[in-house]
Amino acid sequence: MKTTMFTRATVADAAQLLRNGELVAFPTETVYGLGADATNVTAVKKVYAAKGRPSDNPLIVTVADIDTVRRFADVTPVAERLMRKYWPGPLTIILNIIPGALDAAVTGGLPTAAFRCPDNAATRELIKLSGNPIVGPSANLSGKPSPTTAQHVLHDMDGRIAGILDDGPARVGVESTILDLSGDTPAILRPGYVDESMLAADLQTVNTDQHHVGANETPKAPGMKYKHYAPDAQVVIVDHQVDFPAAIKWAQADPRAFGVLATDQVLATVPAGVETYSLGTDLASATRDLFAGLRYFDLHPDISLVLAQGFDPEGLGAAYMNRINKSAGGEHFPVTAP
Ligand code: TXA
Ligand code: MG
Repeated sequence: MKTTMFTRATVADAAQLLRNGELVAFPTETVYGLGADATNVTAVKKVYAAKGRPSDNPLIVTVADIDTVRRFADVTPVAERLMRKYWPGPLTIILNIIPGALDAAVTGGLPTAAFRCPDNAATRELIKLSGNPIVGPSANLSGKPSPTTAQHVLHDMDGRIAGILDDGPARVGVESTILDLSGDTPAILRPGYVDESMLAADLQTVNTDQHHVGANETPKAPGMKYKHYAPDAQVVIVDHQVDFPAAIKWAQADPRAFGVLATDQVLATVPAGVETYSLGTDLASATRDLFAGLRYFDLHPDISLVLAQGFDPEGLGAAYMNRINKSAGGEHFPVTAP
């Protein structure tokens, strides 16, 4: 299959592919998604095949407006209030669905579904022109970092999908906050740009202790390590309160070739000759560029160890640390011998 690149000017052609039951990757403010008509079971099943994703992991239903959600789910007053406040934007909301309204290929057989309206005009136009909401998992191969550019998508999906709508690099860089409103107590299942303190303004209580989503992301047993967003090299996190030069000394003594993924201030202290990737100047740029950085080191198979800068896990820092922790399989400096 030939994978065609589309732009805003050719969005109608991309929409036609979706109507034909084909897969088209789409830009959002968080990461690029892999789109298929959410009401076409055959098309939805192709998404799992293209990603190499277990089919019991449910998919987000991506919409262009709030009213579309009412076709599929019970939009509670509190859900509506949050949608009006944050949509279009990086907040995904899990709701109880109307029985039979969505196929098990979308929901993984759950009585709930996740809904999201991305802050990207080209994608909302794509959805409107296609006539139906689209499922939208991140457009990476399963287990790899989410794509934040059309080029990342092409790298993983070339020949596997019909098209990619290119609208430049994603602005936020990590996936949306997932808020579960289907039960008695609201719960953040995945931290993102819309953080706990913002949500606390609208919700009396928010559970934050279940920062795992989906069957293949949850450790099967306590203490079992799991990896996600995993580059080929071992990532080791250097926490924000830890002395970076000490970590570099340790890495220099390690027989493995290492690289450094950090902001410019930290990179200024790295000795010449070490492969580095800049995360810009602050937490916002680090979050935006994190996945690109992890992918960068995959292009350097000689490097088998990456020291990655940690941040204070507050606000956006919670989202950043959640992703880097997964890519590191929980490994922090100082590393205890195996
Ligand atoms: O920012 C984003 O949300 C991106 C962009 C493309 O929109 N999408 C994204 O999708 O991150 P995905 O599939 O990579 O992650 C969605 C997560 C999965 O871990 C899935 O298990 C979980 O949402 N999920 C979906 N429906 C759910 C449900 N009904 N209950 C609990 N978790 C659900
Ligand atoms: Mg994903």
